[in-house]
Amino acid sequence: MTTEYNPGLDGIVLGPTALSGVDGEAGVLTYRGYPIEELAGSVSYEETVYLLWYGELPTAAELDRFSQQLVANRALPEPLPTLLAALVESNDEPMDAVRTAVSALTASDPHAGDAAGNRENTETAAIRLTAVLPTIIATYVRLRDGNEPVDPRDDLGHAANFLYMLTGEEPDPVVADTLDMALVLHLDHGINASTFSGKVNASTLATVYSSVTGSLSALSGPLHGGANADVMRMLQAVDESEKSPTEWVDDAIARGDRIPGFGHRVYQVKDPRAVVLQERSKALAEAAGETKWYEYSTEIEAYLADEKGIKPNVDFYSSSMYYVMDIPIDIYTPIFAISRMAGWLAHLFEQYEDNRLIRPLGDYVGEHGKTVTPLDER
Ligand code: CMC
Repeated sequence: MTTEYNPGLDGIVLGPTALSGVDGEAGVLTYRGYPIEELAGSVSYEETVYLLWYGELPTAAELDRFSQQLVANRALPEPLPTLLAALVESNDEPMDAVRTAVSALTASDPHAGDAAGNRENTETAAIRLTAVLPTIIATYVRLRDGNEPVDPRDDLGHAANFLYMLTGEEPDPVVADTLDMALVLHLDHGINASTFSGKVNASTLATVYSSVTGSLSALSGPLHGGANADVMRMLQAVDESEKSPTEWVDDAIARGDRIPGFGHRVYQVKDPRAVVLQERSKALAEAAGETKWYEYSTEIEAYLADEKGIKPNVDFYSSSMYYVMDIPIDIYTPIFAISRMAGWLAHLFEQYEDNRLIRPLGDYVGEHGKTVTPLDER
């Protein structure tokens, strides 16, 4: 038995992947060989998902066919409308409601049980999951806020349609493009915790639906996707306090708190996604004439770089950006899920194609050789 522990599996290579390349030292992220800076703002989320799933950017005809498949799967199947109403009634947090709703999609897929390992059925499930997740989230928010749900529109892209379903109004093109770019940036990121969770589930040949339900659970945590909402709550706490952003952060560090949106297991430099998101956050803030949140963010970034040597990750500048876009804070993490869903699914394709049960060891350090005392004698 080995006694060399690695509880966070730091630096462990699970296996080959042809999807995203993460160079933590150089701060480079690529999808199928394309640097994210090349893709974000130039190609749509749908094109990037196609790239990840099928290996090449689509031709116009391929994109049209793919987009139509997604559009055809946007509507909520039964029993989701009733289920979402019940989850709102019981005050479920958005990520909990999303996880439960995604899990319930199995019921409306006749091939759910035999999707694992069957590429055609896996792809059918993948299209459904990617297409319907924005509708689940928008419907949840509409019901929660006492509004009627808004049906998806066939003529809008993935990002614009989500914003439309959220507000009932056609979104400003700059806001829709910004969300589309954010979805591209969040799509995939190596064997991060939620992707790993999905791969572990898939390695047992559990269904696609079960596998991504596990991924959603992992994403919800504050050390992973939950951090983006925590960043905005922190910026609001700074604003409500009498302190400057640096004093506030200094106190938090002194208490031993982690600052959300900072640090990364793989990146030793600033997260390349944060660089792109920062530019967009700044541009939107200036256009809206509301630069306070962006300024707090840059002050905190400069201070933590000097004091702790820690740099922003993807969740830092997306927060001030979403805030200026009027997106409710408690759906920042579900929006991360809208994007990452297709990344998880791409990794499930890889896992099913060359599966080996993922099954590490634990080093048993408990007692040995005990005997049972009968219940009435304990
Ligand atoms: N705030 C304060 N100190 C930090 C932070 C932070 N956010 N992140 C790392 N550190 C310090 C940590 O205290 C430690 O210092 P020391 O060596 O003096 O004890 C050092 O940096 C190394 O930290 P670590 O815990 O060994 O790093 P890790 O790889 O285990 O942690 C992390 C990675 C993401 C869990 C951590 O940076 C963190 O908790 N960040 C805040 C939550 C967050 O933003 N999560 C999003 C992650 S990236 C996008 C995503 O997955 O959603």
